[in-house]
Amino acid sequence: MGKPRILSGIQPTGDLHLGNYLGAIRNWVDIQRDYDSFLFMADLHAITVPHDPAKLAANTYEVAAMYLACGIDLEHATIFVQSHIPAHTELAWLFNCITPLNWLEDMVQFKEKAVKQGENVSAGLLTYPVLQAADILLYEPDKVPVGEDQKQHLELTRDIAARLNYLFGKAENPILKLPEPMIRAAGARVMSLTDGTRKMSKSDPSDLSRINLLDPPDQIQYKIKRCKTDPIRGLLFDDPDRPECNNLLNLYMILSNQTKDAVAAECQDMGWGQFKPLLTDAAIATLKPIQDKYHAIMADPGYLESVLRQGRDTAAAIANRTLSKVKMALGYSTPL
Ligand code: TYM
Repeated sequence: MGKPRILSGIQPTGDLHLGNYLGAIRNWVDIQRDYDSFLFMADLHAITVPHDPAKLAANTYEVAAMYLACGIDLEHATIFVQSHIPAHTELAWLFNCITPLNWLEDMVQFKEKAVKQGENVSAGLLTYPVLQAADILLYEPDKVPVGEDQKQHLELTRDIAARLNYLFGKAENPILKLPEPMIRAAGARVMSLTDGTRKMSKSDPSDLSRINLLDPPDQIQYKIKRCKTDPIRGLLFDDPDRPECNNLLNLYMILSNQTKDAVAAECQDMGWGQFKPLLTDAAIATLKPIQDKYHAIMADPGYLESVLRQGRDTAAAIANRTLSKVKMALGYSTPL
């Protein structure tokens, strides 16, 4: 038997930030030796909100380069572009027809994003989690490593698989495999630098709310200097009245590779003026090697293209097999 499989993806919308790294990519890298990894750029998801066609392809390549720069190793991983594999959209349609509408209306991310879009909410924004279910189930992964905000989408994915199995399969021989979410506690929910009660997000209009993986050192320093804090001396974890303090301590703990106890002891008597340079140094030290590698990869577009071509071929073979299985179960004839 081969290694268990993981699958995950990121939307190529805007710059990747520390939340994407700590909630997702870093974990893929840490576990990659033990899994067969399928990692993709969710470019079909990227158009569920207004987008700039002139930037979509470039952003997609940039995310692929970032996966590699963060340490994804092609010996263990297949990296591919979602839109290069038509099986994603085809399976999404089949799933759309068996997914009750009220399951989608309950999705927190839909409700949040729909408010921001006003009257121009697209049907794609509503059915986005169905496409995500197709992304996942096509590859029959054992686990899906993501940040906390994706948990509800993974539950929906399992519900869709179970419903299809129930309606069209046999109990002893299910059509689709139900994957488990994999959410690592540390870094699962990195919060905004300007509001410790909201998650760090690509779509926040203020760039000061996030540290982007490509921010140069002076920018990182500036953002941490400006970030929201509180007037209390002595920095403590887990105080519900001090969300910013908890977030910044957690970031420091992960970025400096220390235990919670060590950071709690180090920072318990500190003021912000003493703490912020430590966090700044830890962030710069983590991101500098990633940035150097990223720029080297981007300097060789031929290499990136070959990675994505190879990724498409490997991924398509698996995706097409699952799609055929589902179509047969739904009663479609095989093409002549
Ligand atoms: P996206 O592009 O919003 O985020 C990509 C990954 O980063 C994690 N993440 C965070 N983790 C911790 N703190 C944060 N502030 C933070 N912000 C983002 C997300 O949890 C995610 O793991 N719908 C997905 C993309 C997708 C997908 C999939 C993922 C499409 N199909 C199939 C997994 C499997 C999304 O929009 O992620």
